[in-house]
Amino acid sequence: MSQPRIFSGIQPSGIPTLGNYLGAIRNWVTLQDSHECIWCVVDLHAITVWQEPAALARQTREMAAVLLACGLDPVKHVLFAQSHVRAHAQLAWIFNCVARLGWLNRMTQFKDKAGKDREAASAGLYVYPNLMAADILAYHATRVPVGDDQRQHLELANDIAQKFNHDYGVAFFPPIEPLILGPAARVMSLRDGTRKMSKSDPSDQSRINLNDDADTIALKIRRAKTDPEPLPGSEAGLANRPEARNLVGIYAALAGVAPGAVLAEHEGMGFGAFKPKLAEVLVSVLGPIARETERLLADPGQIDAALRTGAGRAAAIADPIVAEAERLVGFLPAG
Ligand code: TYM
Repeated sequence: MSQPRIFSGIQPSGIPTLGNYLGAIRNWVTLQDSHECIWCVVDLHAITVWQEPAALARQTREMAAVLLACGLDPVKHVLFAQSHVRAHAQLAWIFNCVARLGWLNRMTQFKDKAGKDREAASAGLYVYPNLMAADILAYHATRVPVGDDQRQHLELANDIAQKFNHDYGVAFFPPIEPLILGPAARVMSLRDGTRKMSKSDPSDQSRINLNDDADTIALKIRRAKTDPEPLPGSEAGLANRPEARNLVGIYAALAGVAPGAVLAEHEGMGFGAFKPKLAEVLVSVLGPIARETERLLADPGQIDAALRTGAGRAAAIADPIVAEAERLVGFLPAG
């Protein structure tokens, strides 16, 4: 029997963070054993907010290098850049005509990213979730591993799939199942435990980047906001302590145990003692990834070649599916 197909994506809008790693990438690596996987560096999504052209190109290549260094397998699975496969933009246009304005108006990420001056946001940022739906459905992927912040976008993708099927009287697009896994599905900022850790946060102290060296990691963790209370013995004791909860969640995810087990082991310990332990685990996990990323980036031509090969294989899957969607809509065959 064939394995279920997975699609997921990451924006090349900066160096990936610990949040990207624990909320998504690390799960992607594990899922490769049991799924057919399609991994995408989503540069079309990145330009929904301004990107310096030279930086975008560099970051797209760096993102591919990090994903390879983390253990994504570009031979057994597919890794590519979104702009290399035209099917994404083609299907997104159809979905722009399926999705309703009322649905898009409910998207909390648009509200967060557009900020106070909504009139100045790009039209692309507004229809961002339609492109996401196209990414997934162009492959008839049924499982999508993401961090918790993408939940609402995946609900919208399911609404789009259902409306398309309903309007055209078909059962063409399958339902999508979000895979939101582990104790770090929502890693928070090191400066504010109520905000998500993000590669686009203006403060570098708010996040761990996957290329931070050991000293930087230790310093950022030492400076991370906490409270003066010692660690409680169980998760109930973390209520109303978002920063403490975040650091415990990160430790648990890295150690591969439940937060309750971390607390049982460290009950009564203050953050002065817990933070160096956390930094040590972080360095042991992230150090090898940073070194491998650097090694890969020494040969950019090879990364570009891997992405081009991936794009060819991705297009071979997506093109016939999108051609069929176009036929269902009533477009005359192009070729
Ligand atoms: P992006 O680039 O913001 O993030 C990539 C992945 O990392 C997860 N993530 C986090 N998880 C836990 N804690 C955090 N602080 C954290 N920050 C980010 C995200 O949930 C995501 O899984 N819209 C997507 C990219 C995308 C996509 C898709 C995803 C485009 N098309 C199709 C799935 C399917 C995004 O901006 O991810």
